[in-house]
Amino acid sequence: MNELILTQPDDWHLHFRDGDMLKETVPATDRCFKRAIVMPNLVPPVTNKKQALAYRDRILSAASDTSFNPLMTLYLTNKTTPATIREAISEKIPAAKLYPAGATTNSEAAVKGIESLYPVFETMSEVGMLLLIHGEVTHSEIDIFDREKVFIDQHMEPLRRRFPNLKIVFEHITTADAADFVLESGERIAATITPQHLLLNRNDLLVGGVRPHNYCLPVLKRNVHQQRLREVVASGSQKFFLGTDSAPHAKHAKESACGCAGCYSAWSAIELYAQVFEDLGALDKLEGFASFYGPDFYGVARNTDKIRLIKEKWTIPDQIDLPVGEKIVPFFAGHEVNWKLAR
Ligand code: DOR
Ligand code: ZN
Repeated sequence: MNELILTQPDDWHLHFRDGDMLKETVPATDRCFKRAIVMPNLVPPVTNKKQALAYRDRILSAASDTSFNPLMTLYLTNKTTPATIREAISEKIPAAKLYPAGATTNSEAAVKGIESLYPVFETMSEVGMLLLIHGEVTHSEIDIFDREKVFIDQHMEPLRRRFPNLKIVFEHITTADAADFVLESGERIAATITPQHLLLNRNDLLVGGVRPHNYCLPVLKRNVHQQRLREVVASGSQKFFLGTDSAPHAKHAKESACGCAGCYSAWSAIELYAQVFEDLGALDKLEGFASFYGPDFYGVARNTDKIRLIKEKWTIPDQIDLPVGEKIVPFFAGHEVNWKLAR
């Protein structure tokens, strides 16, 4: 097959950042995706309707495609109230993000004691706002490779029992445990999967030297987990959909003694997913994953425009120069990709 025509996809999880960085990140995404669920972990975080709407305007000003539709999210903190949720849903803000405090980039202000937010989840369930979860515990005694599994036992199971009507997206899952938890759950629990967790495992982070550009959170896991994620997307299950977690950091901040977590995949995301599905002999399942199951789960219309991917080899650049003098190393820099989005 030399050409793929797909219903235009959406990215159900990414990080645009703010300020000048938007001129880089928003066009990189709107070249391909119609909508994107925009993560709220700015400094300070996006915790209310007013901040979310102002951030949305800044994103729209940086868009290269005027029909691009950023979907905003609220950052839950211990100060979030049911009223915060009601105000946000009245402005059609579809989702709120739960970061356990300390779990990842800019999560210091986030939630301590998830149970204390149960009244907020009650309201979200009532008004139909989705709960997006970074599913890792942060206790120092729990090994970093076990943090997703322990989160399932300690928090996802109780949430599933307590809030049967709340729609939950288990974001950027990395383990067979998470994939199986989602498969065993009812139709109100789904998950996003990133390109890096389909393409790589922890050997790609640690063998032959530490590779900081493959460092993200949740961290890459052993290959059996990678294989399980590949299996579930190849199966065509509607419970798994595209969320890149594209998350830029300056080159110097990643290539550091204490490097930041995040892979900036926007410039190659759909192409890399296509490559994975092709490797799996499951190209016929790509459109569901990229373009149908996300909107179906969020309860919004599927896109009607199309995109075209052609079979053409190209190499992901070694770096991107930002106008402000910073550089970013894109995810999979220097690697050859088999598919290309046609302009
Ligand atoms: O690798 C990651 N980077 N994981 C996250 O959860 C956050 C993200 C970021 O904001 O850089
Ligand atoms: Zn993220």
